Amino acid sequence: MTKTIIEPFKIKMVEPLHLTREEDRREILKKAGYNLFLVKAQNILIDLLTDSGTSAMSSEQWAGMMRGDESYAGASSFYKFEEAIRSITGFRYIIPTHQGRAAERILFGTINVKDKFVLNNTHFDTTRANIEYLGGTAVDLPIPEARIPSDEFPFKGNMDVSLLKSFIQEKGRDKISLVMLTITNNSGGGQPVSLQNVKEVSAVCKSSGIPFFLDACRFAENCYLIKEREPGYSSKTVKEIAQELFSYADGCTMSAKKDGLANIGGFLALNDENLAIQEKNLLILTEGFPTYGGLAGRDLEAIAQGLIEVLDEDYLNYRIASIRYLQNGFEKAGIPTVKPPGGHAVYIDSRAFLPHISPEQFPGQALVCELYVKGGIRAVEVGSLMFGKKQSDGKEILPALDLVRLAIPRRVYTQSHIDYVIEIGEEIAKHKEKTRGLKLIYESPFLRHFTAKLEPLF
Ligand code: F0G
Repeated sequence: MTKTIIEPFKIKMVEPLHLTREEDRREILKKAGYNLFLVKAQNILIDLLTDSGTSAMSSEQWAGMMRGDESYAGASSFYKFEEAIRSITGFRYIIPTHQGRAAERILFGTINVKDKFVLNNTHFDTTRANIEYLGGTAVDLPIPEARIPSDEFPFKGNMDVSLLKSFIQEKGRDKISLVMLTITNNSGGGQPVSLQNVKEVSAVCKSSGIPFFLDACRFAENCYLIKEREPGYSSKTVKEIAQELFSYADGCTMSAKKDGLANIGGFLALNDENLAIQEKNLLILTEGFPTYGGLAGRDLEAIAQGLIEVLDEDYLNYRIASIRYLQNGFEKAGIPTVKPPGGHAVYIDSRAFLPHISPEQFPGQALVCELYVKGGIRAVEVGSLMFGKKQSDGKEILPALDLVRLAIPRRVYTQSHIDYVIEIGEEIAKHKEKTRGLKLIYESPFLRHFTAKLEPLF
């Protein structure tokens, strides 16, 4: 047996990368207000901003694109899409949407979240924003280990079940619209949720009569990590694990831009007929007829095929190995990461890495800027800039962690690209005390990280 886990695919089509020089990147960054969301993609060498919508599609997916049935109603592509989702999730009603957040908006628009709570292991930012926009309160109930980046607990995506029970008891069942589990827990470091935890959360919800949904964006990676780490699952297929996992939930939201291996798309799936009728009505108002929901027939084909390919265990083995390799490389270079490795990204603990930059001075964003200047790499801050909030007295309320996420697009970069990223990390680690903090000079009232402008401190 060789120890190198190779990419289980070969390349049929290539896309050139644009090389830039360090002095050009300094200028580009300055013009973009030290915000990588505002840098043109052509000026990025290795784009690890997100694993969302950035997957390379397979020859079978492209073939499906050609077969797409573009009929307005009842397209054959929809039935293929529906069948692919039903065979994994078992849910009765499958509602296509143009991406994950559209599924969230439709779900929260029908279950009545106003003046109520939605509980989650950790809400993703669009999920939280959709709840808050409709007058609800999003509450995160992660287990305590989730807040300690160096803790090696294998399922740091788990929800704290005793907190869940006491929250329901304290506020009353009627005050809680929904309980969700985000698999994997993206904002908490891409960490998986165990099947045991899914079962326990499901049982609490059933006994209190509260609907329980999954945010299933990265379900295949989560299920592969269950196979690797949870006792009793090593001989099951990832698909069987996924089927069991979904069987405990009443429904799910999904961004097919992640484990759907597609560039656009999503869905909402559930068992409750009344809710499904209301959701389809809302869908017609904003997304489209229920057999396309804001997607072209060709997109439905790409997702249907992507959902088959994402459960291929050679693919998942390679993907998780590649993330682990990058994480080990960083750790060896003295860059502290969130442990153990998650499913789609490596998260750097930037407060621990850059202790000379205080949390008010955005150590995560400072590191994001350094990765770009030194290597043309685009990562994203998941910390004070993304989650911090300015109070009326001008002081910032800061989150518990300042992370930098390097999300790996699926099937896009090769091992030598990953080696290059590690080399840039080593370079930054050698001179890390030179990295400067930043100050905010512009912010929008919500989701501020997308448009914020910053300036380096001297
Ligand atoms: N839920 C989770 C856990 C996500 O990670 C995302 C998107 C969404 C919902 C929303 O899905 O983008 O299709 O509307 N995450 C991307 C990311 C944007 O970079 O992590 P969407």
